[in-house]
Amino acid sequence: MVKHENFKTCDQSGFCKRNRAFADTAAATSSWTSPYALDPTTIKFKDGKLSGTILKTLSGGDEKVRLPLTVTFLESGLARVTLDEEKRQKGDIVLRGDSKARKERYNDAHTWAIVGGLDVSQGAALNEKVDQGYTRVFYGEAGKHEAVIQHQPFGIEFKRDGVTQVKFNERGLLNMEHWRPKVEKPVEEKKEGEEEKKEEETKQEEPKEDESTWWDESFGGNTDSKPRGPEAVALDISFPGYEHVFGIPEHATRLSLKTTRGGDGAYSEPYRLYNADVFEYEMDSPMTLYGAIPFMQAHRKGSTVGVFWLNAAETWIDVIKTKNSANPLSLGTKGHTDTQTHWISESGLLDVFVFLGPTPQDLTRQYGELTGYTAMPQSFAIAYHQCRWNYVTDEDVKDVDRKFDKFKIPYDVIWLDIEYTHEKKYFTWDPLTFVNPDKMHKHLKKRDRKLVAIIDPHIKNTDGYHVIDELKKKGLAVKNKDGNDYEGWCWPGSSMWVDCFNPAAITWWKGLFKYDSFKGSASNTFIWNDMNEPSVFNGPETTMPKDNLHHGGWEHRDVHNINGLTFHNATYQAMLERKKGEIRRPFVLTRAFYSGSQRVGAMWTGDNLAEWSHLEASIPMVLNQGISGFPFSGADVGGFFGNPSKELLTRWYQAGIYYPFFRGHAHIDTRRREPYIPGAPYTEIITQALRLRYQLLPAWYTAFHEAATTGAPIIRPNFYIHPEDEKGFAVDDQLYIGSYGLLAKPVTKEGADSVSVYLADDQPYYDYFDYTLYQGAGKEHTVPAPLEKIPLLMRGGHIIPRRDRPRRSSALMKFDPFTLVVVLDKDGSAQGTLYVDDGETFDYQQGAYIHRRFSFDGKRQIMTSTNLNDHRSTAKLDNYLKSMAKVRIEKVIIIGAPKEWKTKKQVIVSEEGAKESKRKIPVGLEWFEASSGKASWAVVRDPKVGVGRGWKIDFS
Ligand code: GLC
Repeated sequence: MVKHENFKTCDQSGFCKRNRAFADTAAATSSWTSPYALDPTTIKFKDGKLSGTILKTLSGGDEKVRLPLTVTFLESGLARVTLDEEKRQKGDIVLRGDSKARKERYNDAHTWAIVGGLDVSQGAALNEKVDQGYTRVFYGEAGKHEAVIQHQPFGIEFKRDGVTQVKFNERGLLNMEHWRPKVEKPVEEKKEGEEEKKEEETKQEEPKEDESTWWDESFGGNTDSKPRGPEAVALDISFPGYEHVFGIPEHATRLSLKTTRGGDGAYSEPYRLYNADVFEYEMDSPMTLYGAIPFMQAHRKGSTVGVFWLNAAETWIDVIKTKNSANPLSLGTKGHTDTQTHWISESGLLDVFVFLGPTPQDLTRQYGELTGYTAMPQSFAIAYHQCRWNYVTDEDVKDVDRKFDKFKIPYDVIWLDIEYTHEKKYFTWDPLTFVNPDKMHKHLKKRDRKLVAIIDPHIKNTDGYHVIDELKKKGLAVKNKDGNDYEGWCWPGSSMWVDCFNPAAITWWKGLFKYDSFKGSASNTFIWNDMNEPSVFNGPETTMPKDNLHHGGWEHRDVHNINGLTFHNATYQAMLERKKGEIRRPFVLTRAFYSGSQRVGAMWTGDNLAEWSHLEASIPMVLNQGISGFPFSGADVGGFFGNPSKELLTRWYQAGIYYPFFRGHAHIDTRRREPYIPGAPYTEIITQALRLRYQLLPAWYTAFHEAATTGAPIIRPNFYIHPEDEKGFAVDDQLYIGSYGLLAKPVTKEGADSVSVYLADDQPYYDYFDYTLYQGAGKEHTVPAPLEKIPLLMRGGHIIPRRDRPRRSSALMKFDPFTLVVVLDKDGSAQGTLYVDDGETFDYQQGAYIHRRFSFDGKRQIMTSTNLNDHRSTAKLDNYLKSMAKVRIEKVIIIGAPKEWKTKKQVIVSEEGAKESKRKIPVGLEWFEASSGKASWAVVRDPKVGVGRGWKIDFS
């Protein structure tokens, strides 16, 4: 069970409590007006940028706090609203307790999160229409977007095609806690009758602000000194007409976010984003987890919009839904639901990007433009990873490796957890148990397998360890509030933390990974970064004190949620070039993350439990990662804590093959559970599941390429594929792989022998294995799922690339031929793409890849392969094509093949560039009749066309 007492509730987090109370007061006050007004005399508009000053009126009425506002309109159709506080911005404040912290509000989150998409709109223009009290700006493609800025009280409505989609400060909850000096009040002695006196006072005065947590705050025996006093920033953001909101990972919740302030099945706490090592986390909870992506999207039929709240401090988000019943007087109007959200961060700027869609694809692309797309992984990284805490010796590693071979189970990577090190000192090997790491690496290399070793951010504070000596000497550790090296407790005992906000720390960190520095590592070693929230066993909420100091004088409070990304990034940079000239795509797994982490590696969902509920929750969690820009994600297969039953383990593998990041992992106290352990029939069934993953690797790799170039998720929820299908918006227990129409529904219930699959449209869907047909839009369909069966359907209209030869690792498939499965749609047509590159280097950036579009034209009965690689011939591309010249399509399978083919015995194949004599070659066609609910199908065996070539197969 999670230890709730270790983590704050909103009520225990001063700024959250204050802002919720603020919201309550606003709601309870009929005449509530937000005390923020944009001074019209300060408004300027130039080059797509509007600036001005917002004045916050303090209670009493006379004093006003100046808050500089910028609204930037971006070429991409986004708007960015930034609000700062003049006094802090100018450093015109006094810090308490001799603090060495910076005075400004944290204004550097963009350096870590944003990599592009900031071009300012050239076309954005002020609306000349004079409208007292408002400023209007048209922006976006053809000026379809409009920001209507109300001066007093300040608020913004964002419209698309004249319809309001997003509203800022509609409920008047904008709140920027301004700087103020602490007024020391004399401690009065309590006199008799005081209680009554107090009561009288409150009756007469305005509601007093709760100052109890302004100047310091204690939790679980730790006191936060808060040298800058209260500095929270909060805003309400409404999505009128939107019933569903998604995103803001990481939480163990459903995809469609529940409400947090009353209502059926609502949570009572807001969603919290404060990266933390939550031991044995619980299901169906808005509690914080290891990572934070403050990107939310609202979806309704015909429209997806969203906001990205660029703030790295502790953040809470309330979600409220209001049902508006239909107006009985106006015919034809339906009732609708509005979603209102309330965002509350402890410190930093208010910095929000507004997305107006209108499609889910627009959102993921635009968010990717801002924060970067998923890094294209090496091909091994999307195959199967075998991990446990711990493989205990180098002989153990080799033994596990041999057993996979003995049982003919494919796998690519074996992992080492913390026990491989000498006394938890990273970059060292335990001399008694890992006697010969070089030999171990060589053993793996023979089968082209890799090893991932864990390296955590805590550095053991001990004598005679060069890493801690250098860390201290170079002054690269995170500091405590007094400016001394911060010391805390983690796996190694007393430890210090490398401060990767510091460029000098990154440079130093890179050096530690060079082969001559990290001895015993090899070119097939890759890295796992864990505990980077950071996890500090004796710290407040198992992390660092908020008044710790980072490079540049920023308090840990300001940067907490970015901390994990900085460490992950440093390791990625280190892995880019371990030896001069050896540049390959790194693979680094992280537990903590923030917006932008997708650029440098994969994530997993941390320490789950070997329970059915955790298997079930992993699907919406991974789907949510996908639409939130960090799709290379997965959960520990089998469950980290506890021993799964054989059935649960088997079902987990059958589900795990759909995680973009696919790794089995287990806690040190659990029994061994490698796929060959459970025995018959489980081992065989798990092996089949693994083979299915390997068979579909070409499709997965292409889906990764799509993610890396368009920001699209790798596994996709129903609403993303069918954004018009209202019934399916909340469906989050089934998934589509890439753009392939492959629809999977993992079994997550004990003893199940069937599942019900929701079909959103009326295309034919076929069982992947036996081509049973399912059809009928907006309905659940029962699909058999005995233990040995993985429910997987293929939607009509797609062409799926596969590699059918079972191999021991993905590397051994590199030059294997392809099979294309053509799944015809209602009109007898289908389309699909395939992306292939060397799977290892960055040569693809210079065009060294194959990218094809396969089409089956139902009318003309012709299948073609056309080129999607628009790079002109380069040496790298030519070499690559040469290396792939012999790789061909060995089989084309057509599902739903027309009856007319019954008598057809051959098709005519033509390959681009072939000699005259080799054009128009007849190749045999076999046709199989439909039977008992199954589709008819046909196969062309060995058409002998190259995967990298243009070709045509004529079925007419
Ligand atoms: C953390 C990780 C887990 C790992 C363990 C030991 O609990 O989440 O995956 O096995 O630390 O390193």
